[in-house]
Amino acid sequence: MGVAVVTGANRGLGAEWVSQLLEEGWQVYAGYRNELGRLATFTNEKLTTHVLDVQSNESVELFAHNAPQKIDLLINNAGVADGRWRNLAEIDDKWALEVIDINALGPVRVVKSLYGKMQHDSLTNIAMISSLMASIDDCHMGRSYAYRASKTALNMFTVSMKKEAVEDNIAFVILHPGWVKTDMGGDRAPVEIPDSVSGMRRVLASRTLDNTGEFVQYDGQILPW
Ligand SMILES: NC(=O)c1ccc[n+]([C@@H]2O[C@H](COP(=O)([O-])OP(=O)(O)OC[C@H]3O[C@@H](n4cnc5c(N)ncnc54)[C@H](OP(=O)(O)O)[C@@H]3O)[C@@H](O)[C@H]2O)c1
Repeated sequence: MGVAVVTGANRGLGAEWVSQLLEEGWQVYAGYRNELGRLATFTNEKLTTHVLDVQSNESVELFAHNAPQKIDLLINNAGVADGRWRNLAEIDDKWALEVIDINALGPVRVVKSLYGKMQHDSLTNIAMISSLMASIDDCHMGRSYAYRASKTALNMFTVSMKKEAVEDNIAFVILHPGWVKTDMGGDRAPVEIPDSVSGMRRVLASRTLDNTGEFVQYDGQILPW
């Protein structure tokens, strides 16, 4: 196993990625915004942690500078929900821009800063943790305006980047974790955190330069754009 980087790793799906990757033998470099949270409970010597706020170029660059020299897997997981506004009139444009900054541009900043360390002879996989809510075809219920727009933008950034990355032996996958029981997903969510992450790991195992950029659910189902 090689070196994996996980963002938003202190709780929820990110912390579970760290747990399962360590279990599998990966060396893990994990980013947390403020508190170590669940990261403080891991005793594995293959884990290194570093502060990371994906909204700040300075923070992302420092995180990348201190990262291991060769990276084989990047899980771009950090993300925020929006204000769950009930109608158009409630949309707060400052908040909306912040959600787009974190969810769409944040992962791109991380890819840009780590790119040189992911460019090598063996394949590097980059997982962009998106959402079914990014899907324009599937947008039947509306609302969640900024969250949906941020994840749709993330998908387009990814598809736009995939061509140049193929030349550098880097494959992307855009993942929907399912509706998962985390702080963001809430108690009513039907999918348990370990099941979501083990499903996404199975999807990752089938990645090649030929299927780069696909939009895939945690159980392997290909999603509509
Ligand atoms: N749960 C679901 O049902 C579901 C469904 C579809 C997609 N997703 C996506 O899955 C990913 C993980 O979500 P989750 O359910 O695990 O949510 P969560 O429990 O709310 O965790 C979100 C993580 O992102 C981090 N984060 C937020 N803003 C950040 C920033 N600016 N810089 C660095 N880290 C930041 C948080 O750090 P702090 O602790 O510092 O806030 C936290 O570690 C997200 O991208 C989310 O959109 C989740």
